Amino acid sequence: ESTLGAAAAQSGRYFGVAIAANRLSDSTYATIANREFNSVTAENEMKIDATEPQRGQFNFQNADRIYNWAVQNGKEVRGHTLAWHSQQPSWMQSLGGSALRQAMIDHINGVMSHYKGKIAQWDVVNEAFADGSSGARRDSNLERTGSDWIEVAFRTARAADPSAKLCYNDYNVENWTWAKTQAMYRMVKDFKQRGVPIDCVGFQSHFNSGSPYNSNFRTTLQEFAALGVDVAITELDIQGASPTTYAAVVNDCLAVSRCLGVTVWGVRDMDSWRSSDTPLLFNNDGSKKQAYTAVLNALNAG
Ligand code: G3I
Repeated sequence: ESTLGAAAAQSGRYFGVAIAANRLSDSTYATIANREFNSVTAENEMKIDATEPQRGQFNFQNADRIYNWAVQNGKEVRGHTLAWHSQQPSWMQSLGGSALRQAMIDHINGVMSHYKGKIAQWDVVNEAFADGSSGARRDSNLERTGSDWIEVAFRTARAADPSAKLCYNDYNVENWTWAKTQAMYRMVKDFKQRGVPIDCVGFQSHFNSGSPYNSNFRTTLQEFAALGVDVAITELDIQGASPTTYAAVVNDCLAVSRCLGVTVWGVRDMDSWRSSDTPLLFNNDGSKKQAYTAVLNALNAG
């Protein structure tokens, strides 16, 4: 196959991309995005500050621009993200305790009902664990409502849209030996044992010199899959875009039957949240980088 999406589809997987609504009017950008990818994540437009800027007043204008573009072009959509300590609107930042807990529940219900039956996977909870060696939860206004906030979010989400796969999504959880990875593993294992509804784990996979790719990522994916959840690579970018590393990540997904697919976090380097790292698959002029070819070849070989 000659595109990433079609090549991934040979094994029943998708190859996705993060889309920014205000870039869809750039024809180079839109042409590549439409040609190469068969899954879409909104880079910012489905986040809490975008979808509920005032309490109880939902705004899906930019989210729907991305959703409609994706569906009109035959792509599935990953929803990102419903409960997160970051990119909260100011009204939510100032809440705590039971008021915040209720606001989180109301937010999940409001967004998921708008997209009911239309989203393949939702990142229900994003980035709830601390970095470093503690293995602790990240301190946040949500965590301070009680550490059961994560399972409350998942139970709310299941009731709101039973057809969506419900994911927990995080970064620095790709290396099996890291404390953060092990803490996430213990949570997912506990959720499965107690019947908390969780279907998938998203590994963001923002690789750089401080948090480099390690070949034990495949072990991580296998260990989580063995708990009975699907896994996905949800925000892939690699500082310097080493073709070898890109191919290794794709091969790790292909090696795990429960790996649903790979999403890269942007189209061209200039579209990246860290563009100076030139971490993506396309140059600024829209041409394919060596990493692109390495990924396509890995998908076609797998
Ligand atoms: O839209 C406003 C614009 O009106 C304003 O003038 C401008 C001035 O700063 O900011 C614009 O918003 C920015 C937004 O990106 C859109 O470009 C925000 O400041 C900026 O913080 C925001 O950054 C996003 C970041 O999440 C926020 O946490 C990045 O685009 C986005 O790529 C990044 O994505 C996250 C994932 O959601 C979760 N995992 C990590 C990943 C990378 O940080």
